[in-house]
Amino acid sequence: MTRHDDHTACSGDCITRRSALLRGAGVITGTVLLCSIPGCEDSEPIPVQVTRHPGKLIGTLSALNVDEPVAFAYPDDSANTTSMLVRLGVPAGGGIGPDKDVVAFNMACPHMGGALFYAYRAEEKAVGPCPNHLTAFDLLRHGMVIAGHATASLPQVLLELDGDDVYAVGLIGLIYGHHCNPDT
Ligand code: FES
Repeated sequence: MTRHDDHTACSGDCITRRSALLRGAGVITGTVLLCSIPGCEDSEPIPVQVTRHPGKLIGTLSALNVDEPVAFAYPDDSANTTSMLVRLGVPAGGGIGPDKDVVAFNMACPHMGGALFYAYRAEEKAVGPCPNHLTAFDLLRHGMVIAGHATASLPQVLLELDGDDVYAVGLIGLIYGHHCNPDT
């Protein structure tokens, strides 16, 4: 897969990652089918906010080991932009790479901003419980809430590959503490 390939197999009026990214900078609100979740091809569309940001090199595919998260800041270094790149070892919604298992998420809890980076749970492929109010998030399903106080999914960082290089190129969802995602 290259930086310009779709990674979803959506049909109908959903916005694929590529179509969203090709619409230019700024906030793009649309409907994204969660059809990139293995086994959930018949899911109903779920409205989400997709924002495009300048591409940022955040790592290389060959350097990623299963269940060893890597921290990065995206889309800038402002508050709550610490994010996590991880190879899950199993296919995930929005995953890239030959096994579609490399994903990235913002690590500020969408409930009240709890720091989640050190709460990765390898066995469950999840993040949580949040140290503040115990919400946990499913990294296989676009960061959806498993249990807890949060009502929004963990913001997912859109990824693209250019050879071995992994780029962050956008966000699904809103980073906690921001009226709009930084740099939009
Ligand atoms: S801040 Fe994470 S559950 Fe409240």
